[in-house]
Amino acid sequence: MNAPLYTIPGSTARAVAEEAVAAVPVASTGSAVSDAPVPRTVAEVLAQSRIDDVMDELDRDLVGLAPVKTRIRDIAALLVIDKLRSGFGLSAQSPSLHMCFTGNPGTGKTTVALRMAEILHRLGYVRKGHLVAVTRDDLVGQYIGHTAPKTKEVLKKAMGGVLFIDEAYYLYKPENERDYGQEAIEILLQVMENQRDDLVVILAGYKDRMDHFFQSNPGMSSRIAHHLDFPDYATPELLSIADKMLDQQHYTFGEGAREAFDDYLGRRLEQPHFANARSVRNALDRARLRQASRLFQDRDRVLTRDDLTTIEVADIRSSRLFAVSTA
Ligand SMILES: Nc1ncnc2c1ncn2[C@@H]1O[C@H](COP(=O)(O)OP(=O)(O)OP(=O)(O)O)[C@@H](O)[C@H]1O
Ligand SMILES: [Mg+2]
Repeated sequence: MNAPLYTIPGSTARAVAEEAVAAVPVASTGSAVSDAPVPRTVAEVLAQSRIDDVMDELDRDLVGLAPVKTRIRDIAALLVIDKLRSGFGLSAQSPSLHMCFTGNPGTGKTTVALRMAEILHRLGYVRKGHLVAVTRDDLVGQYIGHTAPKTKEVLKKAMGGVLFIDEAYYLYKPENERDYGQEAIEILLQVMENQRDDLVVILAGYKDRMDHFFQSNPGMSSRIAHHLDFPDYATPELLSIADKMLDQQHYTFGEGAREAFDDYLGRRLEQPHFANARSVRNALDRARLRQASRLFQDRDRVLTRDDLTTIEVADIRSSRLFAVSTA
């Protein structure tokens, strides 16, 4: 039976994950490997688990991210070999799979975490393969006695899948003398150790803050087996991401519009709070709005498929970024 792909207590987290799922749909899975006869070759493990599908989708759907994709293949290889070793009784205990995804906003961390959950599920390392995405507020209470039940509730929901903790460093606030975040960290540490055959924790956030967090929380650091760093996208990658996003929504750039968007990105990169692929998505959302109001104005025109699917230069250039004086 297939578990839901993800469940998310926090409303912000929900929006993020829903967006990620919508953008990169994951095919529903069959049963996990454990039901099948003991595999003896890598090909047999791959065939039984069908993780090749997920990895191919990852390659195809996600632009760039070469180092991340390589690391995921390495982790998958490790797990496949671990499966084969366990066929000979060679794996003493389940491998530690907790991970840390560092990178700037919009670099694909949540999207890749969803795929990782799927891979772990298909290989039988987690029972259900869903992803529960949370932030500090979902784990830590405001008052004494509130944190443990909150954290335990989240852990209960995440069991059998992946717990994705966004901006995990906010759990640790040394400046507050009696911060309840520490309580959440301690519960997490215990579960990460004792129930690692049924729960994988992925911590995510900015690299420098995460490094600092690990320095102050060596217990957490020592439980993280894999660190993946998500680089910022180069402008050509951002353009390819835009192409993909438009294609998924049945839009295309009209003549000159892609160049205009290139120009837009150059300006947007100079502005504060640039958030990589997320900024691309937001900019395209606004371009679609402008396209709609442009088409809306001409009430009597017969609209063709082309009209309805084309983002014109004007839909890009009427962004307020172009209104800023370049003098
Ligand atoms: N390499 C990529 N190719 C195509 N789309 C991408 C890529 N990376 C991210 N996206 C899209 O960009 C959006 C933001 O990605 P995601 O939420 O995974 O980033 P994030 O690193 O988790 O960001 P944040 O730190 O803001 O939560 C999503 O809609 C996702 O589908
Ligand atoms: Mg995210």
